[in-house]
Amino acid sequence: MTNVLVTGGAGYIGSHACKALRAGGYTPVTYDNLSTGWEDAVKFGPFEKGDLRDRSRLDQVFASYQPAAVLHFGALSQVGESIREPGLYWSNNVTGSLTLLQAAVAAGCLDIVFSSTCATYGDQDNVVLDETCPQQPINPYGASKRAIEDMLYDFRVAHGLNYVIFRYFNVAGADPEAEVGEFHQPETHLVPLILDAVDGRRNALTIFGTDYDTPDGTCIRDYVHVMDLVEAHILGLRWLEDGKPSEVFNLGTGRGFTVREVIDHSRRITNKTVPVIEGARRPGDCTKLVSGSTKAEAELGWTHERSTLDRMIADAWRWHQSGHYAK
Ligand code: UFG
Repeated sequence: MTNVLVTGGAGYIGSHACKALRAGGYTPVTYDNLSTGWEDAVKFGPFEKGDLRDRSRLDQVFASYQPAAVLHFGALSQVGESIREPGLYWSNNVTGSLTLLQAAVAAGCLDIVFSSTCATYGDQDNVVLDETCPQQPINPYGASKRAIEDMLYDFRVAHGLNYVIFRYFNVAGADPEAEVGEFHQPETHLVPLILDAVDGRRNALTIFGTDYDTPDGTCIRDYVHVMDLVEAHILGLRWLEDGKPSEVFNLGTGRGFTVREVIDHSRRITNKTVPVIEGARRPGDCTKLVSGSTKAEAELGWTHERSTLDRMIADAWRWHQSGHYAK
């Protein structure tokens, strides 16, 4: 079976990608420093512990597995933390990616699928967010991801690297078989926080802002099921295997939901009350982030049938009740 190096394979999205790779006939080789990931989440292929900034460790892993491609998820991804500690993001995300690309080029592994984010677009309320929008990130997390995109363009020109960049909207849900799921410590994402409030792991869900210019006053986001999202990565890998040109794709459904709508659906799916506190706005939140692109559907043949709010919450709830990873 073809080996694929998966950086961040012990994290939320990376672990689901490993499951999809295995199902697609690949051997996912997880490379992760476990700073935010979980060794328990590595279930579908070998695990190599290491940091992205450790060139000799990367060289060793490339030499022993000879991967045909890299899926690069490994990154710090909390907007608030990036504002407080930008150096962490420039070091871990940007220097880490630079070291990875240099090692990949040296090993002759030239196909890379990269996890970017709609946070690279910044705050462009009322603009249709497609791949041609200017990238104006408003926080160091988004800036670090944009810098890596720039790095990929330069490495393509100079070294013949081929890439598919995916700019994610809001990822939610879990593996329907609950082998892997979403578990961050600390948790900052809406759906798992709602489920924590539902089952009493926290007292209540605080809604960050109820005075936005939206139908119910709360922020609107475009939620994508993690299994649909990782399927796009398999299509991206095949795109590169077929020798198609380097490309950028948004991964969103084009449909937005308010925070209150997500809470209402969660109440219905779990059949339990969601204790809620109406709080102040969270700094750095945009009013509305919804993808305005169907490029991934048209060009990659991507579909997002699992990305209904009910399905995402039901799968997340199943995982939530089935236990979590331990350090
Ligand atoms: N929210 C709450 N209360 C909470 C947590 C979140 O009301 O306790 C709201 C947020 O204000 C936002 C929505 O729920 O309106 C979604 O928030 P998340 O934190 O789940 O997701 P974000 O939209 O902030 O961030 C996600 C990814 C980031 C990525 C960003 C791109 O987590 O990595 O999308 O905008 F950068």
